[in-house]
Amino acid sequence: MLSVSSLSVVYGEVEAVSRVDFALEKGQVLALVGANGAGKSSTLGAIAGLVRPAGGAIRLDGRDIAGLPAEQIARMGVALVPEGRRIFQSLTVAENLRLGGAVHQSAADLKERMAEMLDLFPILRRYFQNKGGNLSGGEQQMLAIARALMSRPRLLLLDEPSLGLAPQVIDAVFDLIEQLKHSGLTILLVEQNVSLALDVAEHAVVLANGAVALTGPAAELANSDLVRQAYLGG
Ligand SMILES: Nc1ncnc2c1ncn2[C@@H]1O[C@H](COP(=O)(O)OP(=O)(O)OP(=O)(O)O)[C@@H](O)[C@H]1O
Ligand SMILES: [Mg+2]
Repeated sequence: MLSVSSLSVVYGEVEAVSRVDFALEKGQVLALVGANGAGKSSTLGAIAGLVRPAGGAIRLDGRDIAGLPAEQIARMGVALVPEGRRIFQSLTVAENLRLGGAVHQSAADLKERMAEMLDLFPILRRYFQNKGGNLSGGEQQMLAIARALMSRPRLLLLDEPSLGLAPQVIDAVFDLIEQLKHSGLTILLVEQNVSLALDVAEHAVVLANGAVALTGPAAELANSDLVRQAYLGG
């Protein structure tokens, strides 16, 4: 479904992403891991159209989307949940969800999708008219994911969904990712919690200094010396 080849992202003098290659099949979860500053968010940003690539190709079902406007990429079925769960704090849960569903052509579509999201995230039904900023960190993360799902994306890009959350809440987020995967959604998961990411993913890519350091089946990477020493505490 997604194939990234020789992708580079440059900020001024800094090459944040350097000739990165990977591919993601429909219905699979790919984990993209690596240290702070490795280029993970820049890679997601390039796929979502928020960052203009300096080079390379990003193919979505064979079509090169590199450099297209973010809005067009979103309409092609790609949704990003950004790092730090940037929901609209002063808008209600309902308003946040409606904004995520702005791509829907009809009011009936929007209503149907909203109902599906409230079934999937009962907590959002409970706080439907509350301001986003009044939700807990975990609830805001759920809202951020639900908002991205409102557009019925085919490819979900998740940037550090577990960051700053309590262990129990992290479990709930990963249960949800499992559930989304079983529903057939294709997911590119950037995650600091490498152990959990490798559990849910089929394949993984380790980035170091903007380049691919290691790639392969998630189970194999979980047993590799490099990943164990660098990310899994030996
Ligand atoms: N808008 C920007 N302007 C200039 N440099 C940037 C910009 N965004 C990121 N960088 C730099 O690019 C490199 C990669 O950053 P990026 O955010 O992609 O890494 P990351 O792997 O997501 O890191 P983290 O785990 O901390 O989120 C870093 O050196 C960062 O300082
Ligand atoms: Mg990042």
